[in-house]
Amino acid sequence: MRVTFSSPQAEFALIRDEWLREVEEIAARGVFVGGVPVTRFEEAFASYSGAQYGIGVANGTDAIYLTLKALHIGPGDEVITAANTFIATVEAIHHTGALPVLADCDPDTYLIDLEQVKRLVTPRTKAIIPVHLYGQMVDLTTLIPWAEERGIAVVEDSAQAAGASLLGRKAGSMGTAGCFSFYPDKNLGALGDGGAVITSDPQLATGLRKWRNHGGEVRYQHEFPGVNSRLDPIQAAALQLKLAYLDEWSGKRREVAGMYESYLGNCSGVKLPGSRGDESHVYHLYVIRIEADRRDTLRKQLQKHGVLTAIQYPEPIHRMKAFSHLGYQAGDFPASEEIAGEILSLPMNIALTEEDIAGISAVVRDVLGKVQI
Ligand SMILES: Cc1ncc(COP(=O)(O)O)c(C=O)c1O
Repeated sequence: MRVTFSSPQAEFALIRDEWLREVEEIAARGVFVGGVPVTRFEEAFASYSGAQYGIGVANGTDAIYLTLKALHIGPGDEVITAANTFIATVEAIHHTGALPVLADCDPDTYLIDLEQVKRLVTPRTKAIIPVHLYGQMVDLTTLIPWAEERGIAVVEDSAQAAGASLLGRKAGSMGTAGCFSFYPDKNLGALGDGGAVITSDPQLATGLRKWRNHGGEVRYQHEFPGVNSRLDPIQAAALQLKLAYLDEWSGKRREVAGMYESYLGNCSGVKLPGSRGDESHVYHLYVIRIEADRRDTLRKQLQKHGVLTAIQYPEPIHRMKAFSHLGYQAGDFPASEEIAGEILSLPMNIALTEEDIAGISAVVRDVLGKVQI
């Protein structure tokens, strides 16, 4: 067996010829920063997502950071997010000077616990960043009006959830803004780094366009010190072509998740991820739970059989050296701490076949059947 974890090459094969033609056109025009491919993709992605504006940026971390800056969040403010997220979410808060405040997750869906989020709100809370982790949307239907009443922004970290939709609303379009990463492994991945923010707030969109471009929309008219964080046109051209496939690919990922459910559903020792069974999950990752003392053995055996797996993420934020200064203690986020020792991401991508899933599942069953506890 030889099963890759993600499938950027399979995706690239589908857009290769058209993308190369686009690159030739960009080269012929000589406009290597900004230009038509970027604005065209920004409009297409916003329209696909049901938002008014799309603002391309250099990566998903900047998408969050610049959104917080454009919302005037900084020192003295607090921003609440998940303890079990990729470090980028919390780095973005940190670099504004605001204090990151962490909340635990539901150990079944791995999604941020919104009741806990509400309890963490103080007069200093300026934003909440729910993370649509592993491709599954946090149900924001009641949080958004609750936050609006209190003047708190909801910034959706949609880095892993491009294409997901809950009750007809696309990830990123429900809150004040939605932030996306187009890192190559993502559900909508570029051929390098890339990111975007979507919003229907015209003032926020204008602020973001200035922030990403040295504090001004017009060349040499700098209204404040901004940064250089732009989406590259060569990447935008690839993203435009991939966007046409996104719904089909989300369907394929859900199909693969369904196969894992049928092959591993009754496998003792394996806990499958909780989901609503609808389009609110696009399975960026397929993350199961295995008892902590069996996980490494299983990983090694899968690797021996040619199956690559990952652990996303081995440590919750509060246990990382980078955020030890926040002063949290072991035991502060019991669910995030427990799952960190048990989660295992199985291969999830558009190139997987039923034969692959059957093969992977056979190894899992075999190994868990043999391991002594
Ligand atoms: C949940 C989450 N937030 C933010 C990011 C940051 O995106 P990028 O790597 O494009 O900066 C990522 C991607 O790695 C992510 O998974």
